[in-house]
Amino acid sequence: FGEQALRGKKVVVSAGPTYEDIDPVRFIGNRSSGRMGFAVAEAAVEAGAQVTLVAGPVSLATPAGIAKRVDVRSAAQMHAAVSEAVQGADIYIGSAAVGDYRPNTVAAHKLKKHDGADLTLQLAENPDILASLSAKQLHPFLVGFAAETQNVETYARDKLQRKGLDMIAANQVGEGLGFETADNAITLYWADGSQELPRADKAALARQLIECIASRYKAVRG
Ligand code: PMT
Repeated sequence: FGEQALRGKKVVVSAGPTYEDIDPVRFIGNRSSGRMGFAVAEAAVEAGAQVTLVAGPVSLATPAGIAKRVDVRSAAQMHAAVSEAVQGADIYIGSAAVGDYRPNTVAAHKLKKHDGADLTLQLAENPDILASLSAKQLHPFLVGFAAETQNVETYARDKLQRKGLDMIAANQVGEGLGFETADNAITLYWADGSQELPRADKAALARQLIECIASRYKAVRG
């Protein structure tokens, strides 16, 4: 990044999973380790950006040069933290795997088994962080991620449009790629274009991703 493609830009990155509590000892989560998002945040710092990192429950050290890290647990907490962090920001990159649903109620005490009977959890839909940002008149350049196991382009383009995004980074999950892994492979889509970033370790991939985001950002926002 000799040219510091994001110099002076304010960038917010979300990373990791969210945990939706069921009772004091159980939760609904997912397999995101935060590695992709932390690599993206680090690459944005290298590109000269002032970076706020909103992290779900992960066990990763804060990359050097991050201006601010906010740790959250649930999707609701991530929503609140991101909404605050994006004020005055130029770019938001949502690499977090946000839980789509949360238990309707969180039990005050540990749930007990009842003689082999089924247990039914009622789930309520979480608000979509990206969609809530794009619904506002003034919002940062929005980059989403899409983790898919099939029909990657169709689902990614649908999310690009439905969530009102500027770009989406789609990754096929499986075969040593995506969640928890060292490597990833991404295809970036925007309204009238796409770019493939072939399999590489997440740090290398994040640098290429940030380069593409910076060049689209310049094309769209000047
Ligand atoms: O953390 P790692 O182990 O390194 O793995 C990286 C990753 C696979 C988690 C990452 O590369 C990735 O793909 N992240 C998005 C995973 C995902 O679950 O996407 P989604 O299809 O549920 O959501 C699409 C987009 O909407 C994402 O940008 C997500 O942050 C956003 N979203 C989703 C739900 C919600 N309530 N609010 C959101 O903003």
